[in-house]
Amino acid sequence: MTAKDADGSPMDKLVALCRRRGFIFQSSEIYGGINGFWDYGPLGVELKRNIKAAWWEDIVRRRDDMVGLDAAIIMNPKVWEASGHVGGFTDPMVDCKSCKGRFRADRVYTVRFLDGSGRPIHAEAVESDDPEQAVAAAAAKAPSKARRRLKTGYDTRVYTPGQEPTAEDQSLCPACGALDALTAPRKFNLMFRTTVGASEESGAVAYLRPETAQGIFANFRNVLDTTRVKLPFGIAQIGKAFRNEINPRNYTFRSREFEQMEIEYFCRPAEADEWYAYWRDARFQWYVGLGLTSEKLRLRDHADDELAHYARACADIEYAFPFGVSELEGVANRTDFDLTQHQEASGRDMTYFDEETKERFVPYVIEPSGGVDRAALAFLCEAHTEDEAPDEKGNPQPRTVMKLHPRLAPVTAAVFPLVKKQGMPEIARGIHEALRDAGLASFYDEKGAIGRRYRRQDEAGTPFCITVDGQTLEDKTVTVRDRDSLRQERIDAARAAEYVRDQLAGR
Ligand code: GAP
Repeated sequence: MTAKDADGSPMDKLVALCRRRGFIFQSSEIYGGINGFWDYGPLGVELKRNIKAAWWEDIVRRRDDMVGLDAAIIMNPKVWEASGHVGGFTDPMVDCKSCKGRFRADRVYTVRFLDGSGRPIHAEAVESDDPEQAVAAAAAKAPSKARRRLKTGYDTRVYTPGQEPTAEDQSLCPACGALDALTAPRKFNLMFRTTVGASEESGAVAYLRPETAQGIFANFRNVLDTTRVKLPFGIAQIGKAFRNEINPRNYTFRSREFEQMEIEYFCRPAEADEWYAYWRDARFQWYVGLGLTSEKLRLRDHADDELAHYARACADIEYAFPFGVSELEGVANRTDFDLTQHQEASGRDMTYFDEETKERFVPYVIEPSGGVDRAALAFLCEAHTEDEAPDEKGNPQPRTVMKLHPRLAPVTAAVFPLVKKQGMPEIARGIHEALRDAGLASFYDEKGAIGRRYRRQDEAGTPFCITVDGQTLEDKTVTVRDRDSLRQERIDAARAAEYVRDQLAGR
């Protein structure tokens, strides 16, 4: 999806705004881009940094039971053998023999539209993460003649390859529509391979990490031996991860390079169920606290048959994106699986000696694992609002506003002189500097009509706009405009930084 595609759907409007205002760009755009890779522009990088800072602050700095880590992206390949990634980190892939397109088999939906008597009206194949969205996408993709027949109501029969198709359910290619041209699914390993060493031939094969978690498990012993942590405790890490996704899609949602925020929380096996419930709820509330307050945020417990063989429980924190309900973060009780695997493969002791019970055992681990890019996308979707604001003459005008939580907004406060004379710019610059000195992200702008300056900040998600005007020259007060309510309050100019800090702290 590119800015050019903006056709008025919520997702396309958001993509266009992110491009126009410098939140997110296509990677290598000047060379036509590269599928599955994205660059964060001046506003986007601040948003992402704020998400990571909020996570680090809430998860590591404010807790006595957590420590941080920053492991290397490239690790000894034995790590990925022990973790099971070399053998099993695969997605099923199908190819179209006609157009040579390549798709994730478990995401290709063939939707057959049937009339009231079960007779076929039309069939379409689409690639989608969500069965409901698949039906909507197939209906939208159908030619106009078929769409007209669908208006009077229809049934559907939907299947994905591998789901026991009947004889009449021949596959359709989602790209070219060719009938029965998809190959049988094959396993495709998602890890990016590279070589370490001077020449490619002699260099050892290595992998770009597909998750940050294994760096934590591989350092479990180091952390235990060098700190005074006692069970239960967690190790947290934020970092890049890479997956050669078969078909990256839905904007930044499924990328080939992304960032993860992962916690491995080690505990006594008998306490694992309790800690699992604790982290599942705590992580859900973290998103609520940062502004995902709508019913679009959901918590979904996995059914027993969805669990990986080593997991005892798992829940997804999901968000209803415009393209479907999809996972933001997973929380899993991974038992002692990972540490035991590394203990066996490396020969290093991964046990913990419990001073209280005098027992030695391999701890269980609870893993809340989230994506920075998916969190950023959910925050952007939730924040993206179209409403009305009065212009200079008081007439309501449509406006686009990003209602980002103040902790996440790329700019916390913008400072404007009403006009570029009478000493107003100097006073405004002084306030701007004072905000910066207080550690706040401030932006100074003196160009253009004041209404337009407000609009630009609304689109950037800036929660507070501080304006120096004629009255400032008389009584040293300024106005503070609230982005969401549009209320203007007069405060002492000298208190501007303190005021913004109090608002951020919710005081
Ligand atoms: N260590 C467990 C693990 O990596 P995962 O469910 O595969 O679990 C965790 O990934 C999180 O990483 C996801 O919930 C998602 O937020 C993010 N993530 C995974 N694959 C991604 C991709 N291709 N693009 C963007 N984010 C991704």
